Amino acid sequence: MVVLVSMFALIQAPLLQAAGEKKLEVFSWWTSGGEGAALDALFSNYKKQYPDVEIVNAAVAGGGGSAARPVLQTRLAGGNPPDTWQSHPGYELLGQYVEPGYCEEITDLYKSDGWDKVFPKALVDMMSKDGKTYAVLASVHRGNVLWYNKKLLDKNGITIGEKFGFDEFFAACEKLRLAGIHALGVGDSGIWASTQLFENTLLGVVGPQGWTDLFSGKMKWDDPKVKEAMTYFLKMQDYVNPDHSALSWDQAVGALMEGKVAFTSMGDWADGEFIKAHKQEQVDFGWVAHPGTDGAFVIVADGFTLAKGAPHKEAALAWLKSIGSKEAEEAFNPLKGSIPSRTDVDKSKFDAYHQWSMSGFANGKLLPSCVHGEAAPAAFQQALNDAVTAFIVDRNIDNFANALVQAAKESEADR
Ligand code: BGC
Repeated sequence: MVVLVSMFALIQAPLLQAAGEKKLEVFSWWTSGGEGAALDALFSNYKKQYPDVEIVNAAVAGGGGSAARPVLQTRLAGGNPPDTWQSHPGYELLGQYVEPGYCEEITDLYKSDGWDKVFPKALVDMMSKDGKTYAVLASVHRGNVLWYNKKLLDKNGITIGEKFGFDEFFAACEKLRLAGIHALGVGDSGIWASTQLFENTLLGVVGPQGWTDLFSGKMKWDDPKVKEAMTYFLKMQDYVNPDHSALSWDQAVGALMEGKVAFTSMGDWADGEFIKAHKQEQVDFGWVAHPGTDGAFVIVADGFTLAKGAPHKEAALAWLKSIGSKEAEEAFNPLKGSIPSRTDVDKSKFDAYHQWSMSGFANGKLLPSCVHGEAAPAAFQQALNDAVTAFIVDRNIDNFANALVQAAKESEADR
């Protein structure tokens, strides 16, 4: 196998050299411990075939892309694109990058590499416009997961079954509070992490149908159900670690590992941190669907694009082919916490968390995330973050709901 791979490299490398393309700039926000390790696995997989291409890792730190996306916009608007960049399907990819003409279509790769047979159509549709496809997925994350420190819960007599409702959750938080523990770990130096807590709580109250109705405009943002979710979110604030605004999402996961907090509601990139720290499933940490969201799977998928006018187009096309391969998916996802987006990957290579997530994906209601740019235009995503920031300070439910009603009206034009 090794011999075959390096022979292939010998054939490919001169082609890239002939075109003078020995570099590849990859833009992402994968900089935490788990994210960095998983990105390295993608680079290694690429390097096996293209050892002579220098990969420029242009990652910008800041979970959820909160700092990376503005940097990327400036580069794209200034005509200085990286060769390829990370993007979520749905509104983010189509509205922010395809619509203004920053992406080259890669539809042909779906035929040449047989991707049209192995990537779920529903996901490919979220990356396509007018029959043209603009990205290939590396992974599918689940956004609505509640992680916990197993030893800490055991010590405090708290057991979690297959499902965990709001009542049980708040009872556990109260028990931990009485034991002097900040139950809920949040790291919202990037506010999106608190917005994610709200997103998950909102889904837990309105349910999958309510979610669809909210983002299609059928349900209003001041609906009593939405306000009920706001009430829960407000109540959660009483159990949050006081240093939350000084921590990043991964530092909050770190606090959970250290037993400083018991829970964190976070997408399963958190699993990448546990894996990187060699923590053991069901011994050191456990997981359950965020309260009320059992049976629903909030999709946070990561794709890569091809820039229009990519400085190193051949190398970038080779990168996309490599990302979409079975080998890359099998190397990347076990480290990242995400499940493969291809349907033909060997499931036995994955641990218990991944098995749980794969079964949730196969059997659950799949819903796009707003926090991660899939469910609504960028202006609404931003307005939601702003409204959460204000709500944590003023704790006023009417203001929160009204801000979202207004934002939904304003973003109507971008739909
Ligand atoms: C991305 C994940 C990433 C997470 C935290 C999400 O938007 O889809 O890949 O790990 O942000 O940075």
